Amino acid sequence: MSLIFFIGTLMMTAVVTYGFNLDNFDQLNDAKKSPDKWIVIKNLLVPAGKTLDLTGLQNNTVIEFTGHVTFGYQEWEGTLITLKGKNITVLGKRGHLLDGGGQRWWDGKGGNGGKKKPRFIQVSLVDSTVTGLHIKNSPRHCFMINSSQNLRVQNTTIDIKDGAKSGGHNTDGFGVSSSRNVTISNSVVYNQDDCFATTSGSDTVFENAKCVGGHGISIGSMGSGNVVERVVIRNCRVLGNTNGIRIKTRRGETGAVKNVTFDDIEMKDISKYGVVIQGNYYNSGPKGDPTPFPIENLVIRNVRGHVAKSGTNILVWVAPGSAKNWTWGSKITGGSKENPCKGVPQSLPIRCGKK
Ligand SMILES: *[C@@H]1O[C@H](CO)[C@@H](O)[C@H](O)[C@H]1NC(C)=O
Ligand SMILES: *[C@@H]1O[C@H](CO)[C@@H](O)[C@H](O)[C@H]1NC(C)=O
Ligand SMILES: *[C@@H]1O[C@H](CO)[C@@H](O)[C@H](O)[C@H]1NC(C)=O
Ligand SMILES: *[C@@H]1O[C@H](CO)[C@@H](O)[C@H](O)[C@H]1NC(C)=O
Ligand SMILES: *[C@@H]1O[C@H](CO)[C@@H](O)[C@H](O)[C@H]1NC(C)=O
Ligand SMILES: *[C@@H]1O[C@H](CO)[C@@H](O)[C@H](O)[C@H]1NC(C)=O
Ligand SMILES: *[C@@H]1O[C@H](CO)[C@@H](O)[C@H](O)[C@H]1NC(C)=O
Repeated sequence: MSLIFFIGTLMMTAVVTYGFNLDNFDQLNDAKKSPDKWIVIKNLLVPAGKTLDLTGLQNNTVIEFTGHVTFGYQEWEGTLITLKGKNITVLGKRGHLLDGGGQRWWDGKGGNGGKKKPRFIQVSLVDSTVTGLHIKNSPRHCFMINSSQNLRVQNTTIDIKDGAKSGGHNTDGFGVSSSRNVTISNSVVYNQDDCFATTSGSDTVFENAKCVGGHGISIGSMGSGNVVERVVIRNCRVLGNTNGIRIKTRRGETGAVKNVTFDDIEMKDISKYGVVIQGNYYNSGPKGDPTPFPIENLVIRNVRGHVAKSGTNILVWVAPGSAKNWTWGSKITGGSKENPCKGVPQSLPIRCGKK
């Protein structure tokens, strides 16, 4: 019997690096000019009061996030990360994290006072995709999309769970404005304000989302002459939010909401309103009689779930004549608070009045 020993000999480790490794903030401008149009953002500390400014990107740039991106602390009203370009591919690799460290700013006041707080991410992207970002603890508004076209944002995690106990406020998840053909799919959002809100633009899709702890999924608040048209919100779960779904139009302002569909929305443990559509909105809360604001071709289909006993299942409070051609199919139970209505198109199967 013979034993053959293979003794460990040579370990050849081939380390091939691609792209521009950005791990030092001072190299940001070089990274954007790099000829291979591929930026790998590793562990990076963005200095206090500075923006990780990924605007002015070359067309067709790929941006990969690998390690942890963190931010210095300063009270300011800027944005921590901006992205702008055409045919941009943004990829969050396994294990990466964009950590806003929001707890350093949180004071329960959000955008309404207290410390000045930066927003987290602002993108203006055309013909682009953003995949797999893992975002934590936004100081306030988290992921804002504006002036974008043909953009897909998928498999994003926005985890602001910590804000629930530590004074997170106005930590809106996704916001879409002045954009066309933006699709946001497969998101998970834990926060303390709207999970998703769109205030202007067209052909917006928000689908396959799980929203936990915030204020629900919103159209609006609408006003300033802004128009939202062709929005589809589908296959979403809204859990432990104050509201399920909302359309809010500001009192005395103009604009329009056209062709919005909510389809296959499941809600659980909603504390205030399952569905709320109101035409007398102010940031400080609804007040006074609603004023005319067109909400046309609204479809509510298979919107279902449970509201807390102290809440209201459905509230529609719009100026008479604002609602045109609504289609309504919902099954929301649990709320025992009065369910007043104003401006509901006749023949719609919404139970108004006292419970
Ligand atoms: C980048 O895209 C813009 C917008 O389509 C186009 O005008 C510009 O020529 C492109 N730049 C290059 C270098 O291809
Ligand atoms: C978009 O960028 C990718 C690189 O991510 C490139 O392969 C592709 O050719 C570009 N598309 C166009 C239309 O330029
Ligand atoms: C939209 O994005 C641009 C950057 O592309 C920014 O300068 C502008 O302030 C943003 N507008 C709003 C309303 O957020
Ligand atoms: C909408 O955007 C997607 C990419 O997300 C693109 O594939 C599609 O062609 C765009 N649709 C139109 C009508 O431009
Ligand atoms: C995104 O998430 C969906 C649903 O969880 C999954 O099926 C898909 O493979 C994911 N895509 C990417 C690119 O990670
Ligand atoms: C809204 O949908 C209706 C019915 O499908 C259609 O006739 C109308 O053109 C659409 N309006 C907008 C702004 O997309
Ligand atoms: C009313 O809405 C339904 C459902 O969206 C749509 O099919 C129909 O075309 C709309 N009617 C008008 C007159 O726009």
